[in-house]
Amino acid sequence: MTSRVGKITIRNPLLLASGILGESSGSMIRVYSSGAGGVVTKSIGMEPRDGYRNPTVYEFESGMLNAMGLPNPGIEHFSDVISRTKAAGVFTVGSIFGGDENEFSHLAGKMEAYGVDAVELNLSCPHVEGFGSELGSSPERVRSVVGAVRQAVRIPVWAKMTPNVADMGSIAAAAEEAGADAIVAINTVRAMAISARLRRPVLSNTYGGLSGEAVKYVGLRAVYEIGKKCSIPVIGVGGVRSGEDVAEYLVAGASAVQIGTAVAERGPGVFGQVADELSDFMEREGFSSLKEMIGIARR
Ligand code: FUM
Repeated sequence: MTSRVGKITIRNPLLLASGILGESSGSMIRVYSSGAGGVVTKSIGMEPRDGYRNPTVYEFESGMLNAMGLPNPGIEHFSDVISRTKAAGVFTVGSIFGGDENEFSHLAGKMEAYGVDAVELNLSCPHVEGFGSELGSSPERVRSVVGAVRQAVRIPVWAKMTPNVADMGSIAAAAEEAGADAIVAINTVRAMAISARLRRPVLSNTYGGLSGEAVKYVGLRAVYEIGKKCSIPVIGVGGVRSGEDVAEYLVAGASAVQIGTAVAERGPGVFGQVADELSDFMEREGFSSLKEMIGIARR
């Protein structure tokens, strides 16, 4: 089950996605103890932010729509969370969001000083003005943010991409050219829910990000497409709920996956279940390592 993402080795390919249970050391340690290969923190910015008012989440059978508004305690208040999580031996990726390359570099430097194993750049939140996909939809801005962070830190730099663009491959290629060590794909799909009875949008922010089962096929397409344009590892995200879902992402070209909505739906125990299912799948299909599976569909 050992997974390699560039120079990093992880005990298994199942990581906690940013945004779910990633704000306290207690919850991240619990996720790791439940079988995750590692965790990605909640996205952290320069200052504390309250986020949007409720309703911020809308759940339905095949997924979830959310617009939290990047609530977080601010980077200066996150050092203890990282040190406690790392002290428990958890492979920890620090997710950050900023408004420009200077903010991203500052945040990445702080995360590195706090002891994270890698930093994930949120270039993809689909609904907060001035952040996320506003930067991540432009290859030039992605190149400049990733390049600045690359200069600022020595730890691996992962760039998390938005699916809400015409050509994800070119944007991922810009991140690779600027020095990213891995691409994470995808963040949520920009969407909205409407209540006909209330005659209004459901979320307080009107627009949110769609995740879960409903977006798995968007994620698979993104991983496959990015793999054709990039030679750095791709980490697949979107709708992973079973061992066979993981296998699909690996065969599409992912080196590892992140799980978010399924953790919200089924709790941290989902990591152990998915790992067992993946292992059964590999045995049935005659695979003896993850490496044998990665990218077969592209050959
Ligand atoms: O609302 C949120 O905080 C979402 C963040 C993201 O999608 O990256």
